Amino acid sequence: MKKTNLFTSYFYLSLGLAALFVASVSQAKSPRSLAGLSMIKERQAVFVLIQSNFKFLGDVARNKVEASPQEIAKHANRLAYFSQLLNETFHPVSNLGEPHTKTTENVWREANAFNEMLTDFQRNTQQLALVATAENFEQKRFRQATGQLAKDCKACHKQYKVK
Ligand code: HEC
Repeated sequence: MKKTNLFTSYFYLSLGLAALFVASVSQAKSPRSLAGLSMIKERQAVFVLIQSNFKFLGDVARNKVEASPQEIAKHANRLAYFSQLLNETFHPVSNLGEPHTKTTENVWREANAFNEMLTDFQRNTQQLALVATAENFEQKRFRQATGQLAKDCKACHKQYKVK
């Protein structure tokens, strides 16, 4: 009688362990979603870099901060460069929705419209870099170029980013 009881409890214990194992395996993330998650992190990191460089330039344009031509050129060139990194961070594998990403699925549903917006943004960061590195630097053109970019950020966030 005692023996049977021991056997029964081992049986249930192993059954329980097997169930746990199955549960943990089915919860494990597929390689595809792991790739998507790491891409989302990369995308968000690029946007943080875009943000910090853009903020500096916006502050200079509004005379909140004084900066040398070299500093202005450095941040403007970085902004233009970082914006070029965005395309590959928007691969459909990263369409995982909230809470993983604040990118709405419209990015992939309206891929053409989104790409156009991204391309315009990239062109405008290049325009800003040209204005910022011009030999005869003009504050007015610089302010216009940063103002245009601020509009680009807002427009894209409104359309393609969860608040
Ligand atoms: C073409 C579209 C587009 C443009 C242009 C754009 N953004 Fe974004 N931005 C997004 C999307 C989409 C997200 C959400 C990223 C995610 O969570 O996957 C985002 C996220 C961010 C974030 C949050 C990053 C984080 O830590 O999660 C910051 C900061 C940001 N953008 C700043 C800016 C600034 C500043 C500009 C303009 C200079 C700008 N963005 C231009 C689409 C855009």
